[in-house]
Order: sequence, then C-alpha cells, then structure tokens
Amino acid sequence: MFVGELETAVAAARAAGEVLHRYLSQGITVRYKGPVDLVTQADVEAERVITGMLREAYPTYGFLAEEGGRSEGESDARWIIDPLDGTTNYAHGFPAFAVSIALQRAGEVVAGVVYDPVRDELFAAQRGQGATLNGQPLRVSETQELGRALLATGFPYDLGKLPAALELFGQFVAATQGVRRAGSAALDVCYVAAGRLDGYYERGIWAWDIAAGSLILTEAGGTVSDFRGGPLDIEGREMVATNGPLHPQVVEITGGASA
Ligand code: IPD
Repeated sequence: MFVGELETAVAAARAAGEVLHRYLSQGITVRYKGPVDLVTQADVEAERVITGMLREAYPTYGFLAEEGGRSEGESDARWIIDPLDGTTNYAHGFPAFAVSIALQRAGEVVAGVVYDPVRDELFAAQRGQGATLNGQPLRVSETQELGRALLATGFPYDLGKLPAALELFGQFVAATQGVRRAGSAALDVCYVAAGRLDGYYERGIWAWDIAAGSLILTEAGGTVSDFRGGPLDIEGREMVATNGPLHPQVVEITGGASA
C-alpha cells in the first residue's frame, strides 16, 4: 500500500458524490442496459471523474469499472469502481446509493472506500489497519443467533434466477428477525461492518458492488465467503457477509440454495 492511495480514492469518491448530488437536483435521464438494469448520465459522469482522478495520480494502474469495463495497467494494481451502486434507487430518488472504489494488488483487495453522499458517510479500510466510518473505528455486531439477526439481500437482474432467490429469501425471512432489500450491495456490506445489520447474502452481484465492502467488513471483524462457506471470489457473482458468529448459520442455508 503506497501512502496516498486511500486518500486519492477518498477524494475521488467524494468528487463522484458531488456529481451524483448535482444530477439528482437537475433531473436524470435513464437508459436501460437490460429489462430492469439501468444506467443514468450520473453513473457515466461520476465514473469519468473517478477514473480521471485515479489515472492522473497512478497512471500505470488498471481498471475494472461498472460502466467502462476492464483495462489492464502496467503494474499488478487495479482499481475496481462502481460509480453508483444502487442506480435504480438513485433514478427514483430513493436515498440509498453509494460510490464504491477498491484497490486490488496482486489479486488481493488492499484498500476500499464506500461513500454515501446522502448521509455523508464515508466507510474506508486498508488491509491490516482496521475500518472506519467518517474516521471512527468500525466494529461488527455481536449477534450470536440467526433468530435475533437482521439481514440484507438483493435480487438478481436476471429474472430467470428470481424464483431461486425468492425461495432463499423466504427461508431467511422465516429464520431471522427480518431481511431488508434496500438496493445497494455496497452499503449493505458496510452496514454489516458497522453493526447496523448482522449479515448479507446475494447472488448475481459483480466485483465492483462488493470489492471495497468486503475489505471494510473483514477489517471491522466480519467474515466473507461464497454461498457454501468457501473463500470469497469477488468475481464469483455471489457473497455471504456476516458479523462472524452467524456465518455458519447463514451458509448452512445459502449452501443448500439451488443455483
Ligand atoms: C446493484 C445493487 C443492488 C444489488 C444488485 C447490484 P447497481 O448495483 O447493489 O442492491 O441487488 O445485484 O447490481 O446496478 O445499482 O450498481
């Protein structure tokens, strides 16, 4: 980790947050990527601002970004960027969306920032140095039993996968105090890190939705994995994220889910 990378990512996330505020007050034009997957001018402009700032500071690094795709850099480092996680919420003016920026080096996420411009909440972590929310240390909840837990999830854009997701959702609704579907995976994972939620699971997600959040959560004491409890592959399109004690109880259920 070079000094300055996290600071640069924080500055880029805040600048993107200003773009999102500006477009929200001006009015947004929506374009559809799929039947339910959409993109706004704000996503595109926020990503342009982020990549511009990061490229200027670290010209040799690669990128994996939601709107701009993949570009290899000359070093083993790359930025993983979601300029607007929670685009559907944003397009409707529902205040749950965030900017997510992670730095991956030699395949490992080493720094992450998730910025909620509505609440001005900035979640950040560097590997081995803990996680913070607006500079204050973050810690996961101590909930031990699934029956006392509040979870979050999301539903896939691929509607063919919806029945399996709803079946799993039903199992968790019955087994917990509640399951929220707020519409921003990056914030869901950070809320587990902050102890506001006890766990999160979802299939159909992308690396840019969860790369930063996964580090923020583990640095806050939480646990991440795939649906069967194996190591998290941020490009594996699925994630279970918990406070730690609940992990075996959650993967016992996700592990039995049909694909
Ligand atoms: C989406 C949100 C949503 C999750 C989807 C994601 P986007 O990201 O994180 O909560 O359920 O899987 O793709 O498309 O708004 O950046």
